[in-house]
Amino acid sequence: MQPVLDYLAANETRFLSELCDYLRFPSVSAQPKHKPDLEKCAAWIANHARAIGLEVEVCPTKGNPIVLARTPRRVGARKPHYVVYGHYDVQPPEPLELWKSPPFEPRIDGCNLFARGSCDNKGQHFAHLKAVEAYLKTGTELPCDLTFLIEGEEEIGCENLAPFLRARKKDLRCEAFVISDNGLPSKRHPALTYALRGIFAVEIRLDGPNRDLHSGLFGGAVDNPAMALAQMLAKLRDKNGRVAIPGFYDDVASLSKYEREMLAKLPGNEASFRKLVGVPELFGEKGFTSLERRTARPTCEINGLTSGYQGEGSKTIVPAWARAKLTFRLVPDMDPQKVQRLVVEHLKSLCPPSCKLTVEAGHAGEPYLVQPDSPRAQAALRALREAFGCEPVLMREGGSIPIVNDFKRILGVETLLLGLSLPDDNAHSPNEKFDLDCFRAGTRMSALLWRELAQVK
Ligand code: BES
Ligand code: ZN
Repeated sequence: MQPVLDYLAANETRFLSELCDYLRFPSVSAQPKHKPDLEKCAAWIANHARAIGLEVEVCPTKGNPIVLARTPRRVGARKPHYVVYGHYDVQPPEPLELWKSPPFEPRIDGCNLFARGSCDNKGQHFAHLKAVEAYLKTGTELPCDLTFLIEGEEEIGCENLAPFLRARKKDLRCEAFVISDNGLPSKRHPALTYALRGIFAVEIRLDGPNRDLHSGLFGGAVDNPAMALAQMLAKLRDKNGRVAIPGFYDDVASLSKYEREMLAKLPGNEASFRKLVGVPELFGEKGFTSLERRTARPTCEINGLTSGYQGEGSKTIVPAWARAKLTFRLVPDMDPQKVQRLVVEHLKSLCPPSCKLTVEAGHAGEPYLVQPDSPRAQAALRALREAFGCEPVLMREGGSIPIVNDFKRILGVETLLLGLSLPDDNAHSPNEKFDLDCFRAGTRMSALLWRELAQVK
Protein backbone atom coordinates (compact mmCIF):
# COMPACT_ATOMS: atom_id res chain seq x y z
CA MET A 1 0.00 0.00 0.00
CA GLN A 2 2.77 2.45 0.91
CA PRO A 3 4.18 2.65 -2.66
CA VAL A 4 0.68 3.59 -3.86
CA LEU A 5 0.35 6.37 -1.31
CA ASP A 6 3.90 7.55 -2.00
CA TYR A 7 3.16 7.66 -5.73
CA LEU A 8 0.08 9.80 -5.08
CA ALA A 9 2.10 12.27 -3.04
CA ALA A 10 5.02 12.37 -5.49
CA ASN A 11 2.92 13.01 -8.59
CA GLU A 12 0.47 15.56 -7.30
CA THR A 13 1.70 18.50 -9.37
CA ARG A 14 1.31 16.53 -12.58
CA PHE A 15 -2.17 15.34 -11.52
CA LEU A 16 -3.27 18.93 -11.10
CA SER A 17 -1.96 19.99 -14.46
CA GLU A 18 -3.80 17.06 -16.08
CA LEU A 19 -6.98 17.94 -14.22
CA CYS A 20 -6.65 21.49 -15.57
CA ASP A 21 -6.51 20.08 -19.10
CA TYR A 22 -9.72 18.13 -18.40
CA LEU A 23 -11.37 21.28 -17.05
CA ARG A 24 -10.62 23.32 -20.18
CA PHE A 25 -13.38 21.55 -22.14
CA PRO A 26 -16.62 23.58 -21.91
CA SER A 27 -18.68 20.39 -21.62
CA VAL A 28 -22.01 22.08 -20.88
CA SER A 29 -24.68 19.46 -21.56
CA ALA A 30 -27.62 21.87 -21.30
CA GLN A 31 -26.44 23.94 -24.29
CA PRO A 32 -26.64 22.28 -27.73
CA LYS A 33 -23.82 24.47 -29.11
CA HIS A 34 -21.41 22.58 -26.83
CA LYS A 35 -22.17 19.14 -28.25
CA PRO A 36 -18.74 18.96 -29.99
CA ASP A 37 -17.04 19.98 -26.73
CA LEU A 38 -18.76 17.13 -24.91
CA GLU A 39 -17.48 14.67 -27.50
CA LYS A 40 -13.95 16.05 -27.29
CA CYS A 41 -14.08 15.94 -23.52
CA ALA A 42 -15.24 12.30 -23.57
CA ALA A 43 -12.42 11.44 -25.97
CA TRP A 44 -9.92 13.20 -23.71
CA ILE A 45 -10.89 11.33 -20.56
CA ALA A 46 -11.04 8.07 -22.53
CA ASN A 47 -7.48 8.60 -23.80
CA HIS A 48 -6.35 9.57 -20.36
CA ALA A 49 -7.78 6.40 -18.83
CA ARG A 50 -6.11 4.38 -21.59
CA ALA A 51 -2.76 6.00 -20.83
CA ILE A 52 -3.14 5.03 -17.18
CA GLY A 53 -3.47 1.43 -18.29
CA LEU A 54 -7.23 0.88 -18.38
CA GLU A 55 -9.16 -0.89 -21.13
CA VAL A 56 -11.41 1.80 -22.53
CA GLU A 57 -14.56 1.96 -24.61
CA VAL A 58 -16.29 5.13 -25.75
CA CYS A 59 -19.94 4.15 -26.14
CA PRO A 60 -22.13 6.32 -28.34
CA THR A 61 -25.68 6.99 -27.09
CA LYS A 62 -28.57 9.01 -28.50
CA GLY A 63 -27.02 11.87 -26.56
CA ASN A 64 -23.48 12.26 -25.27
CA PRO A 65 -21.05 9.33 -25.22
CA ILE A 66 -20.51 7.18 -22.15
CA VAL A 67 -16.93 6.22 -21.30
CA LEU A 68 -16.34 2.77 -19.80
CA ALA A 69 -12.85 2.04 -18.49
CA ARG A 70 -11.90 -1.28 -16.87
CA THR A 71 -8.85 -2.23 -14.90
CA PRO A 72 -7.09 -5.13 -16.62
CA ARG A 73 -8.49 -8.41 -15.26
CA ARG A 74 -6.09 -11.15 -14.21
CA VAL A 75 -7.23 -14.53 -15.48
CA GLY A 76 -8.21 -16.83 -12.65
CA ALA A 77 -8.15 -14.10 -9.99
CA ARG A 78 -11.62 -13.75 -8.54
CA LYS A 79 -11.83 -10.29 -7.10
CA PRO A 80 -14.82 -8.26 -6.03
CA HIS A 81 -15.93 -5.83 -8.74
CA TYR A 82 -16.87 -2.20 -8.07
CA VAL A 83 -18.07 0.45 -10.52
CA VAL A 84 -17.03 4.08 -10.03
CA TYR A 85 -19.52 6.52 -11.54
CA GLY A 86 -18.79 10.11 -12.54
CA HIS A 87 -19.91 12.70 -15.07
CA TYR A 88 -17.86 14.85 -17.43
CA ASP A 89 -20.70 17.21 -18.27
CA VAL A 90 -20.99 20.46 -16.33
CA GLN A 91 -23.60 23.10 -15.52
CA PRO A 92 -23.85 26.24 -17.66
CA PRO A 93 -21.32 28.79 -16.39
CA GLU A 94 -23.61 31.83 -16.75
CA PRO A 95 -23.66 34.58 -15.51
CA LEU A 96 -20.13 34.94 -16.87
CA GLU A 97 -19.53 38.45 -15.55
CA LEU A 98 -19.55 37.13 -11.98
CA TRP A 99 -16.53 34.85 -12.50
CA LYS A 100 -13.23 36.22 -11.17
CA SER A 101 -11.46 34.27 -13.93
CA PRO A 102 -12.99 32.59 -17.00
CA PRO A 103 -14.85 29.35 -16.10
CA PHE A 104 -12.95 27.21 -18.59
CA GLU A 105 -9.50 28.62 -17.87
CA PRO A 106 -8.62 26.74 -14.67
CA ARG A 107 -6.79 28.79 -12.04
CA ILE A 108 -5.09 27.57 -8.89
CA ASP A 109 -5.18 30.05 -6.04
CA GLY A 110 -3.74 28.82 -2.74
CA CYS A 111 -5.59 25.65 -1.81
CA ASN A 112 -8.29 26.01 -4.47
CA LEU A 113 -8.65 25.10 -8.11
CA PHE A 114 -11.22 27.34 -9.78
CA ALA A 115 -13.14 26.21 -12.90
CA ARG A 116 -16.62 25.11 -13.91
CA GLY A 117 -16.75 21.36 -13.28
CA SER A 118 -13.83 21.37 -10.83
CA CYS A 119 -15.85 19.88 -7.97
CA ASP A 120 -19.03 18.94 -9.88
CA ASN A 121 -17.78 16.52 -11.03
CA LYS A 122 -14.50 16.27 -12.97
CA GLY A 123 -12.17 16.77 -10.00
CA GLN A 124 -13.97 14.20 -7.88
CA HIS A 125 -13.91 11.26 -10.27
CA PHE A 126 -10.41 12.26 -11.42
CA ALA A 127 -9.24 11.58 -7.84
CA HIS A 128 -10.48 7.98 -8.19
CA LEU A 129 -8.71 7.62 -11.55
CA LYS A 130 -5.44 8.79 -10.04
CA ALA A 131 -5.71 6.21 -7.25
CA VAL A 132 -6.00 3.47 -9.86
CA GLU A 133 -3.09 4.95 -11.79
CA ALA A 134 -1.01 4.71 -8.59
CA TYR A 135 -1.76 0.98 -8.28
CA LEU A 136 -1.06 0.26 -11.93
CA LYS A 137 2.09 2.35 -12.24
CA THR A 138 3.67 1.04 -9.05
CA GLY A 139 2.88 -2.54 -10.01
CA THR A 140 0.76 -3.00 -6.89
CA GLU A 141 -1.98 -5.57 -7.31
CA LEU A 142 -5.42 -3.97 -7.16
CA PRO A 143 -7.50 -5.69 -4.45
CA CYS A 144 -10.68 -5.23 -6.55
CA ASP A 145 -11.63 -5.22 -10.21
CA LEU A 146 -12.86 -1.76 -11.13
CA THR A 147 -14.90 -0.24 -13.92
CA PHE A 148 -15.25 3.49 -14.41
CA LEU A 149 -18.52 4.68 -15.91
CA ILE A 150 -18.19 8.33 -16.85
CA GLU A 151 -21.16 9.89 -18.56
CA GLY A 152 -22.06 13.21 -20.13
CA GLU A 153 -25.71 13.86 -19.29
CA GLU A 154 -25.93 13.93 -15.51
CA GLU A 155 -26.74 17.61 -15.33
CA ILE A 156 -29.66 17.19 -17.73
CA GLY A 157 -31.24 14.10 -16.21
CA CYS A 158 -29.25 11.06 -17.46
CA GLU A 159 -31.82 10.16 -20.09
CA ASN A 160 -29.61 7.68 -21.93
CA LEU A 161 -27.97 6.02 -18.97
CA ALA A 162 -30.75 3.65 -17.85
CA PRO A 163 -30.99 2.02 -21.32
CA PHE A 164 -27.20 1.71 -21.27
CA LEU A 165 -27.32 -0.03 -17.87
CA ARG A 166 -29.87 -2.49 -19.25
CA ALA A 167 -27.82 -3.15 -22.38
CA ARG A 168 -24.57 -3.63 -20.44
CA LYS A 169 -25.93 -5.40 -17.39
CA LYS A 170 -23.33 -8.14 -17.62
CA ASP A 171 -20.34 -5.81 -17.71
CA LEU A 172 -21.72 -3.72 -14.88
CA ARG A 173 -22.64 -6.51 -12.50
CA CYS A 174 -20.82 -5.54 -9.30
CA GLU A 175 -20.81 -5.52 -5.51
CA ALA A 176 -21.71 -1.82 -5.39
CA PHE A 177 -21.32 1.51 -7.14
CA VAL A 178 -19.01 4.15 -5.72
CA ILE A 179 -19.78 7.81 -6.35
CA SER A 180 -17.99 10.96 -5.31
CA ASP A 181 -20.36 13.59 -6.70
CA ASN A 182 -21.53 15.20 -3.51
CA GLY A 183 -20.19 16.86 -0.40
CA LEU A 184 -18.66 16.67 3.05
CA PRO A 185 -19.41 19.21 5.81
CA SER A 186 -15.75 20.25 6.30
CA LYS A 187 -12.21 19.03 5.68
CA ARG A 188 -12.18 17.75 9.26
CA HIS A 189 -15.41 15.79 8.68
CA PRO A 190 -15.15 13.30 5.84
CA ALA A 191 -18.58 11.88 5.16
CA LEU A 192 -20.52 8.87 4.04
CA THR A 193 -23.82 10.07 2.59
CA TYR A 194 -26.77 7.74 3.12
CA ALA A 195 -29.62 9.78 1.61
CA LEU A 196 -30.21 12.04 -1.39
CA ARG A 197 -33.27 13.99 -2.38
CA GLY A 198 -35.21 13.14 -5.51
CA ILE A 199 -36.34 15.66 -8.07
CA PHE A 200 -39.13 16.53 -10.46
CA ALA A 201 -38.66 19.27 -13.09
CA VAL A 202 -41.41 21.09 -14.95
CA GLU A 203 -41.70 24.04 -17.33
CA ILE A 204 -44.82 26.13 -17.51
CA ARG A 205 -45.87 28.59 -20.10
CA LEU A 206 -48.79 31.00 -20.05
CA ASP A 207 -49.90 32.43 -23.38
CA GLY A 208 -51.95 35.61 -23.45
CA PRO A 209 -52.51 37.90 -26.46
CA ASN A 210 -51.31 36.82 -29.91
CA ARG A 211 -48.44 39.39 -29.78
CA ASP A 212 -46.88 41.87 -27.35
CA LEU A 213 -49.42 44.69 -27.01
CA HIS A 214 -49.15 48.40 -26.17
CA SER A 215 -49.89 48.39 -22.44
CA GLY A 216 -51.50 51.83 -22.65
CA LEU A 217 -53.92 50.87 -25.40
CA PHE A 218 -54.72 47.34 -24.23
CA GLY A 219 -53.64 47.03 -20.58
CA GLY A 220 -56.57 46.61 -18.22
CA ALA A 221 -58.74 44.84 -20.75
CA VAL A 222 -56.39 42.00 -21.67
CA ASP A 223 -54.79 39.88 -18.94
CA ASN A 224 -51.04 40.14 -18.47
CA PRO A 225 -49.51 36.62 -18.61
CA ALA A 226 -46.48 37.70 -16.54
CA MET A 227 -48.77 38.92 -13.79
CA ALA A 228 -51.00 35.86 -14.04
CA LEU A 229 -47.98 33.55 -13.86
CA ALA A 230 -46.58 35.42 -10.86
CA GLN A 231 -49.92 34.99 -9.09
CA MET A 232 -50.02 31.28 -9.87
CA LEU A 233 -46.45 30.73 -8.71
CA ALA A 234 -47.05 32.69 -5.53
CA LYS A 235 -49.72 30.17 -4.60
CA LEU A 236 -47.38 27.17 -4.81
CA ARG A 237 -45.98 27.64 -1.32
CA ASP A 238 -46.79 29.49 1.86
CA LYS A 239 -44.72 32.20 3.50
CA ASN A 240 -42.58 29.67 5.38
CA GLY A 241 -41.74 27.67 2.28
CA ARG A 242 -44.20 24.86 2.91
CA VAL A 243 -45.48 23.63 -0.46
CA ALA A 244 -49.17 24.46 -0.83
CA ILE A 245 -50.14 21.73 -3.26
CA PRO A 246 -52.88 19.41 -1.92
CA GLY A 247 -51.50 15.94 -1.15
CA PHE A 248 -47.85 16.99 -1.58
CA TYR A 249 -46.80 15.88 1.92
CA ASP A 250 -48.88 12.68 2.05
CA ASP A 251 -45.94 10.30 1.60
CA VAL A 252 -43.17 12.30 3.30
CA ALA A 253 -41.37 10.10 5.83
CA SER A 254 -40.57 11.90 9.03
CA LEU A 255 -37.12 11.93 10.61
CA SER A 256 -36.59 9.75 13.66
CA LYS A 257 -35.50 11.35 16.93
CA TYR A 258 -32.21 9.47 16.65
CA GLU A 259 -31.54 10.84 13.18
CA ARG A 260 -32.41 14.39 14.14
CA GLU A 261 -29.98 14.17 17.05
CA MET A 262 -27.28 12.82 14.76
CA LEU A 263 -27.82 15.58 12.16
CA ALA A 264 -27.74 18.20 14.90
CA LYS A 265 -24.23 17.06 15.85
CA LEU A 266 -22.81 17.73 12.39
CA PRO A 267 -20.52 20.75 12.13
CA GLY A 268 -21.88 24.10 10.99
CA ASN A 269 -24.57 26.20 12.60
CA GLU A 270 -27.36 28.51 11.50
CA ALA A 271 -25.18 31.63 11.72
CA SER A 272 -22.31 30.24 9.65
CA PHE A 273 -24.80 28.92 7.10
CA ARG A 274 -26.46 32.32 6.85
CA LYS A 275 -23.07 33.91 6.30
CA LEU A 276 -22.14 31.38 3.61
CA VAL A 277 -25.18 32.26 1.50
CA GLY A 278 -25.22 35.97 2.38
CA VAL A 279 -28.94 36.38 3.08
CA PRO A 280 -30.35 38.88 5.60
CA GLU A 281 -32.28 36.08 7.30
CA LEU A 282 -32.67 32.34 6.86
CA PHE A 283 -35.97 30.95 5.70
CA GLY A 284 -37.91 27.71 5.75
CA GLU A 285 -40.48 25.39 7.21
CA LYS A 286 -41.15 25.97 10.89
CA GLY A 287 -39.88 23.31 13.27
CA PHE A 288 -36.87 22.22 11.20
CA THR A 289 -33.21 23.22 11.20
CA SER A 290 -31.60 24.55 8.00
CA LEU A 291 -29.81 21.24 7.56
CA GLU A 292 -33.08 19.32 7.87
CA ARG A 293 -34.87 21.73 5.55
CA ARG A 294 -32.28 21.28 2.81
CA THR A 295 -31.71 17.54 3.10
CA ALA A 296 -34.76 15.84 4.55
CA ARG A 297 -37.72 18.05 3.57
CA PRO A 298 -39.28 18.51 0.12
CA THR A 299 -39.29 21.86 -1.66
CA CYS A 300 -40.62 23.79 -4.64
CA GLU A 301 -38.20 26.18 -6.34
CA ILE A 302 -38.43 28.54 -9.30
CA ASN A 303 -35.20 28.03 -11.25
CA GLY A 304 -35.97 30.49 -14.03
CA LEU A 305 -38.64 33.06 -14.81
CA THR A 306 -38.95 34.87 -18.14
CA SER A 307 -41.38 37.25 -19.72
CA GLY A 308 -41.66 40.61 -21.48
CA TYR A 309 -38.93 43.09 -22.13
CA GLN A 310 -35.59 42.44 -20.36
CA GLY A 311 -33.39 44.99 -22.15
CA GLU A 312 -32.26 48.44 -21.08
CA GLY A 313 -34.78 51.17 -20.39
CA SER A 314 -38.53 50.70 -20.47
CA LYS A 315 -40.90 49.23 -22.98
CA THR A 316 -44.58 49.55 -22.26
CA ILE A 317 -46.12 46.26 -23.27
CA VAL A 318 -48.47 43.54 -22.16
CA PRO A 319 -46.25 40.55 -22.99
CA ALA A 320 -47.67 37.81 -25.16
CA TRP A 321 -46.35 35.05 -22.90
CA ALA A 322 -44.60 34.18 -19.65
CA ARG A 323 -42.54 31.12 -18.73
CA ALA A 324 -41.18 29.51 -15.61
CA LYS A 325 -38.87 26.59 -14.92
CA LEU A 326 -39.57 24.82 -11.64
CA THR A 327 -38.07 21.92 -9.75
CA PHE A 328 -39.40 20.07 -6.76
CA ARG A 329 -36.97 18.25 -4.45
CA LEU A 330 -38.43 15.06 -3.07
CA VAL A 331 -37.65 13.00 0.02
CA PRO A 332 -38.42 9.40 1.02
CA ASP A 333 -41.14 8.06 0.40
CA MET A 334 -42.39 10.51 -2.25
CA ASP A 335 -43.00 9.20 -5.75
CA PRO A 336 -42.02 11.54 -8.62
CA GLN A 337 -44.87 10.29 -10.84
CA LYS A 338 -47.44 11.01 -8.16
CA VAL A 339 -45.90 14.43 -7.46
CA GLN A 340 -46.07 15.17 -11.18
CA ARG A 341 -49.80 14.42 -11.23
CA LEU A 342 -50.47 16.57 -8.18
CA VAL A 343 -48.43 19.47 -9.57
CA VAL A 344 -50.01 19.43 -13.02
CA GLU A 345 -53.55 19.20 -11.62
CA HIS A 346 -52.89 22.01 -9.21
CA LEU A 347 -51.38 24.28 -11.87
CA LYS A 348 -54.42 23.69 -14.08
CA SER A 349 -56.73 24.63 -11.24
CA LEU A 350 -54.77 27.86 -10.66
CA CYS A 351 -54.68 29.04 -14.28
CA PRO A 352 -57.08 31.91 -14.98
CA PRO A 353 -59.38 31.54 -18.03
CA SER A 354 -57.72 34.63 -19.54
CA CYS A 355 -54.54 32.72 -20.38
CA LYS A 356 -53.65 29.41 -21.99
CA LEU A 357 -51.51 27.10 -19.88
CA THR A 358 -48.93 24.63 -21.22
CA VAL A 359 -47.17 22.34 -18.77
CA GLU A 360 -44.21 20.29 -19.88
CA ALA A 361 -42.91 17.74 -17.41
CA GLY A 362 -39.13 17.35 -17.45
CA HIS A 363 -36.75 14.88 -15.82
CA ALA A 364 -37.61 13.11 -12.61
CA GLY A 365 -35.73 11.04 -10.08
CA GLU A 366 -36.63 9.23 -6.89
CA PRO A 367 -35.14 10.03 -3.50
CA TYR A 368 -32.50 7.62 -2.17
CA LEU A 369 -32.00 6.22 1.31
CA VAL A 370 -29.77 3.36 2.51
CA GLN A 371 -28.91 1.97 5.90
CA PRO A 372 -25.42 3.23 6.70
CA ASP A 373 -24.44 0.20 8.81
CA SER A 374 -23.63 -2.40 6.13
CA PRO A 375 -20.15 -4.00 6.10
CA ARG A 376 -19.35 -2.05 2.91
CA ALA A 377 -20.37 1.21 4.56
CA GLN A 378 -18.09 0.31 7.48
CA ALA A 379 -15.24 -0.37 5.04
CA ALA A 380 -15.81 3.02 3.41
CA LEU A 381 -15.76 4.70 6.82
CA ARG A 382 -12.39 3.08 7.57
CA ALA A 383 -10.96 4.38 4.27
CA LEU A 384 -12.30 7.88 4.99
CA ARG A 385 -10.88 7.87 8.51
CA GLU A 386 -7.41 6.87 7.38
CA ALA A 387 -7.30 9.15 4.33
CA PHE A 388 -8.52 12.30 6.06
CA GLY A 389 -6.96 11.53 9.44
CA CYS A 390 -10.15 12.25 11.35
CA GLU A 391 -13.45 10.70 12.35
CA PRO A 392 -15.99 10.46 9.48
CA VAL A 393 -19.65 11.43 9.82
CA LEU A 394 -22.86 10.09 8.34
CA MET A 395 -25.06 12.56 6.52
CA ARG A 396 -27.96 13.24 4.19
CA GLU A 397 -27.62 15.46 1.14
CA GLY A 398 -30.15 17.73 -0.50
CA GLY A 399 -28.92 17.34 -4.07
CA SER A 400 -30.01 14.58 -6.42
CA ILE A 401 -28.20 11.81 -8.26
CA PRO A 402 -31.26 10.06 -9.69
CA ILE A 403 -29.27 7.33 -11.38
CA VAL A 404 -28.49 5.66 -8.04
CA ASN A 405 -32.06 4.37 -8.04
CA ASP A 406 -31.53 2.86 -11.48
CA PHE A 407 -28.38 1.14 -10.24
CA LYS A 408 -30.59 -0.41 -7.58
CA ARG A 409 -33.53 -1.22 -9.82
CA ILE A 410 -31.68 -2.39 -12.93
CA LEU A 411 -28.53 -3.90 -11.48
CA GLY A 412 -29.72 -4.65 -7.97
CA VAL A 413 -26.85 -2.86 -6.25
CA GLU A 414 -26.49 -0.07 -3.72
CA THR A 415 -24.19 2.93 -3.99
CA LEU A 416 -21.53 4.21 -1.61
CA LEU A 417 -21.64 8.01 -1.71
CA LEU A 418 -18.29 9.47 -0.70
CA GLY A 419 -18.38 13.16 -1.54
CA LEU A 420 -15.31 15.37 -1.75
CA SER A 421 -16.89 18.78 -2.30
CA LEU A 422 -17.03 21.44 0.43
CA PRO A 423 -20.10 23.58 1.18
CA ASP A 424 -18.35 26.68 -0.19
CA ASP A 425 -17.16 25.05 -3.43
CA ASN A 426 -19.82 26.93 -5.44
CA ALA A 427 -21.21 23.97 -7.34
CA HIS A 428 -23.67 25.33 -9.97
CA SER A 429 -22.64 28.90 -9.00
CA PRO A 430 -20.09 31.32 -10.43
CA ASN A 431 -16.49 30.71 -9.23
CA GLU A 432 -16.90 26.97 -8.74
CA LYS A 433 -13.80 25.50 -7.14
CA PHE A 434 -12.34 22.30 -5.78
CA ASP A 435 -10.25 22.20 -2.63
CA LEU A 436 -6.85 20.66 -3.27
CA ASP A 437 -6.76 19.08 0.20
CA CYS A 438 -10.01 17.31 -0.64
CA PHE A 439 -8.56 16.19 -3.96
CA ARG A 440 -5.44 14.85 -2.22
CA ALA A 441 -7.37 13.11 0.54
CA GLY A 442 -9.77 11.84 -2.14
CA THR A 443 -7.00 10.09 -4.06
CA ARG A 444 -5.84 8.43 -0.82
CA MET A 445 -9.37 7.54 0.22
CA SER A 446 -9.94 5.85 -3.13
CA ALA A 447 -6.69 3.88 -2.89
CA LEU A 448 -7.53 2.70 0.64
CA LEU A 449 -11.14 1.99 -0.21
CA TRP A 450 -10.29 -0.90 -2.54
CA ARG A 451 -8.16 -2.51 0.14
CA GLU A 452 -10.96 -2.14 2.73
CA LEU A 453 -13.73 -3.27 0.39
CA ALA A 454 -11.77 -6.34 -0.67
CA GLN A 455 -11.91 -7.53 2.95
CA VAL A 456 -15.73 -7.44 3.05
CA LYS A 457 -17.11 -10.96 2.95
N1 BES B 1 -23.28 16.61 -7.90
C1 BES B 1 -24.64 16.97 -8.03
C2 BES B 1 -25.56 16.31 -7.05
C3 BES B 1 -25.28 16.54 -5.58
C4 BES B 1 -24.60 17.64 -5.12
C5 BES B 1 -25.76 15.62 -4.71
C6 BES B 1 -24.37 17.79 -3.78
C7 BES B 1 -25.56 15.78 -3.38
C8 BES B 1 -24.86 16.87 -2.91
C9 BES B 1 -25.12 16.66 -9.41
O1 BES B 1 -24.19 16.96 -10.41
C10 BES B 1 -26.33 17.51 -9.68
O2 BES B 1 -26.22 18.69 -9.67
N2 BES B 1 -27.46 16.89 -9.89
C11 BES B 1 -28.65 17.56 -10.26
C12 BES B 1 -29.60 16.50 -10.71
C13 BES B 1 -30.60 16.90 -11.71
C14 BES B 1 -30.11 17.73 -12.85
C15 BES B 1 -31.37 15.70 -12.19
C16 BES B 1 -29.25 18.33 -9.09
O3 BES B 1 -29.19 17.89 -7.94
O4 BES B 1 -29.79 19.41 -9.33
ZN1 ZN C 1 -24.35 19.25 -10.59
